[in-house]
Amino acid sequence: MRIAITGGTGFVGRHLAARLDPAETVVVSRRTGVPIWDADALEEAFAGCDAVAHCAGINREIGDQSFQRVHVDGTRAVIEAARRAGVRRIVMLSFLRARPGCGSGYHETKWAAEELIRHSGLEYTILKSGMIFGPGDHMVDHVTKAVRTWPVFATVGFRERHVRPVAVEDAVDVLVAALEGRMPDQTVAVMGAEELELGAAVRRIARVADRSPLYVPAPLWVIRMLAQLTEWVMVVPLVAKAQAMMLGEGVSEPAPPAPEPPPGIRPTHGFDEELIRAALPEGRFGLRDLRLARRLRRST
Ligand SMILES: NC(=O)c1ccc[n+]([C@@H]2O[C@H](COP(=O)([O-])OP(=O)(O)OC[C@H]3O[C@@H](n4cnc5c(N)ncnc54)[C@H](OP(=O)(O)O)[C@@H]3O)[C@@H](O)[C@H]2O)c1
Repeated sequence: MRIAITGGTGFVGRHLAARLDPAETVVVSRRTGVPIWDADALEEAFAGCDAVAHCAGINREIGDQSFQRVHVDGTRAVIEAARRAGVRRIVMLSFLRARPGCGSGYHETKWAAEELIRHSGLEYTILKSGMIFGPGDHMVDHVTKAVRTWPVFATVGFRERHVRPVAVEDAVDVLVAALEGRMPDQTVAVMGAEELELGAAVRRIARVADRSPLYVPAPLWVIRMLAQLTEWVMVVPLVAKAQAMMLGEGVSEPAPPAPEPPPGIRPTHGFDEELIRAALPEGRFGLRDLRLARRLRRST
């Protein structure tokens, strides 16, 4: 089975590509010269493919990379190209709480993309996934670098929110099952086997990273301000505005409701220390993580 992966250079896409036969896998991203709003280039990339794993996306807007352009216009182009190239099946990686009318551009445009796929006429599976962790992720990476860099860690609010982190190997298992056509025309919720408080998840990561910062509960508006600030100054923000919303409401239940994949396909791993250890990044935050420093380096 020949598969094209949009976002195949990203965290989840790379893990998926590593699982598949390289001779039968086509990786699509800006870095491979194919932005997802270019239907002609996509059609060429999709030629001969049986299925598309649509994993491209952004979690913050920058320059002309708006949520509307990447998630909505991009998904429209992916569908158009898949139709033209004769691809039968499309599997989209969406977010557990992607939904309309919630005030977050990320959530609303991921929902709009889901709707485009559901009405595309192609065989589809939409995976509404919780936060995914593993080597090269965003979650363990950012928390670890933060606790290595600063002695204080701001946790969200005073009421604990819950998460069900998904091990990337489990996420890839579900993606592969969907690509094989085992969940046709379904929208399913992908959640890890363990539900825990957000603060407990952060403390577990810090413990595995051998750090014990001072945890300071901060109201959500402070986290939102931090998100805006880090979106402005950091190459990859410590926390993006969309992520501040996720932290504020928890990531443990699908919205709107969706069933889990059938037993045998659904995730089996919890937020295990061994898996966290395998995901620990090198180093801490430094000047290289600042957009200004990167711009100066490029200009010299
Ligand atoms: N990670 C999670 O916990 C999680 C959970 C639920 C859902 N999701 C969703 O799953 C998707 C993948 O997540 P991820 O963590 O793997 O993200 P990621 O590491 O940021 O990777 C995103 C991928 O999308 C590609 N991309 C972005 N804009 C593009 C564009 N305009 N044209 C073509 N390719 C583009 C990027 O490649 P280039 O930069 O080379 O273009 C990259 O390969 C995202 O849509 C995300 O919303 C992620």
